[in-house]
Amino acid sequence: MCGIVGYIGKKRDNVETLIDGLKRLEYRGYDSAGIAVIENGGIRSIKSTGKVAELQQKILADWNHHNKPDTSIGIAHTRWATHGAPTHDNAHPHIDDTGRFALVHNGIIENYAALKKQLQLKGHVFKSETDSEVLVHLIAELFDGDLMQAVAASLKQLEGTFGITVISLDSPDSLVVARRGSPIVIGVGDEESIVASDVSALIAYTKRVIYLDDDDIALVSAEGIEIRNIDNVPVSREIAKVDWSSDAAEKGGYEHFMLKEMYEQPEAISNATRGRLDRKMATGMMNGLGFSPKNLAEINRIVIAACGTSMHAGMVGEYYFEDLASIPTEIEQAAEFRYRNPIIEPNSLLLAISQSGETADTLAAVREAINKGATVASICNVVGSTIARETGRGVYLHAGPEIGVASTKAFTCQVTVLLMIALKFGRNRRLATEEGVRLIDEIENIPALVTEVLNDAAKIEEIARKYVYAEDMFFIGRGYLYPAALEGALKIKEISYIHAEGYHAAELKHGPIALLEEKVPVVALANDIPGKDKIIGNMQECKARKSPVIATATVGDDSIREHADDIIWLPECSKYVAPIISVVALQFFSYYFAKLRGCSIDQPRNLAKSVTVE
Ligand code: M6R
Repeated sequence: MCGIVGYIGKKRDNVETLIDGLKRLEYRGYDSAGIAVIENGGIRSIKSTGKVAELQQKILADWNHHNKPDTSIGIAHTRWATHGAPTHDNAHPHIDDTGRFALVHNGIIENYAALKKQLQLKGHVFKSETDSEVLVHLIAELFDGDLMQAVAASLKQLEGTFGITVISLDSPDSLVVARRGSPIVIGVGDEESIVASDVSALIAYTKRVIYLDDDDIALVSAEGIEIRNIDNVPVSREIAKVDWSSDAAEKGGYEHFMLKEMYEQPEAISNATRGRLDRKMATGMMNGLGFSPKNLAEINRIVIAACGTSMHAGMVGEYYFEDLASIPTEIEQAAEFRYRNPIIEPNSLLLAISQSGETADTLAAVREAINKGATVASICNVVGSTIARETGRGVYLHAGPEIGVASTKAFTCQVTVLLMIALKFGRNRRLATEEGVRLIDEIENIPALVTEVLNDAAKIEEIARKYVYAEDMFFIGRGYLYPAALEGALKIKEISYIHAEGYHAAELKHGPIALLEEKVPVVALANDIPGKDKIIGNMQECKARKSPVIATATVGDDSIREHADDIIWLPECSKYVAPIISVVALQFFSYYFAKLRGCSIDQPRNLAKSVTVE
């Protein structure tokens, strides 16, 4: 998804800081980039299609060798095309006709066509096909000596979502930033400020940040920050401290962020569980949920809303809440929840799961649920993210930054956190103390089990090498391993671009089996947990159609050998933990499969890390 960086200050090279920020946002996915700075009473801008490295080359060629700008204020952007192809003209920053205003924008302006027509009638000439360009013309049109007010007046006319940063020759000592539905964070430095759409762009410079709320507009200078709401009323936002180190957002010797994050899982899961298990009471301790035992007991239905990998984690959660706490639970694709007029009763809990905490559909589901009077809570990784703030209660993963577009450690931490929450709900109801203690033992052992899978990465790579020819693949599972099969298929398709489908093993016979043949491998999750005997039958059906079968199985379970061509052996564990360790194995399988096919792993084509538009 698009990325924004803005810098104001004299402490460092402005252009280098902006480019460094863009590089730190590359993982979000983009197809063009650009930069604009104010210098000697003019705005200078360079844009380029392709990667930030290409923009950097252009800057070196056009600026550094001849006339490097002497500037202390600038904005930069990576664009992920929505309105208009990824071309030079469509890249941001956009500059108005007078050359006095430049803007970068994330989000979508839904009424841009009508606004464009009005502005054209007033003589504005557009250079791009984007929705974003409308806004810079509108600000120029409404400017009456106060940039903040011109931005506010323009934003009042917009329908849609935005995170923006604006510079103007009329206000050369400050950036103006604003947001609605698309994140903006302000890094508060010492005689400098850096703004970005994602905290990872600025943690190398400062750990003190301000997260804007929707419809906040901020005037950001090197010395201070003034925030007003869209009605020009001053508002105060607290300065938060980011606890991620800048090293955590770098590759640390691994070839890819995805690989690094897969290897970080034992530690990330330990962090997610630290201090959250109460052995004495045999329960989970998640104070951020803010439920008294009475509140907990009153909740009689849970709806989980999420997208993508987070939705798969939520599917595992559905099993946990029903098995451990006997609470009717549904998992909803968040966009469906929003548009389906869902039934929310007074004692329903809407649990939103989102790594980034910024996914547009999940956020919209949260708002819809709040509007319908539900209690809402969230499981997010990014501290201070919009979903975390708007739900007001929830559990942070503490998994550290997840940079790889393919989500890995977020999934295993989300599932672990869901297990702890279900334990808490369960103990509030019928779950016995001994069962609670047994679960705590299992939860505490997850990092060790995941480490065992990591130690077998080379064996998984060998299996992936054998099937690298495949253009189609199926993943099947049952019960707790059904969501794991969906997640395995998602991982393969997003980073290796082959056609992969995840199915409930029982569903295979209802249609998909027609596609099986010798060039279509099936990955069957056949760990020794309830459902195994049935999935053996499904594996036989696949073999009968000549599909090679790759199984996950529990170490020592020789019954699987005769039904599979290759086996990824996994340590013994309960059904509650099986989806976690199985997905770790499938992450490695997908990673090596994609790598052997020469695919771009951290920035897969067409994908964005965080989907902040509908
Ligand atoms: O940040 P979120 O967890 O809300 O993101 C949801 C999905 O966009 C995300 O999980 C996506 O499916 C990943 N690319 C999967 O690897």
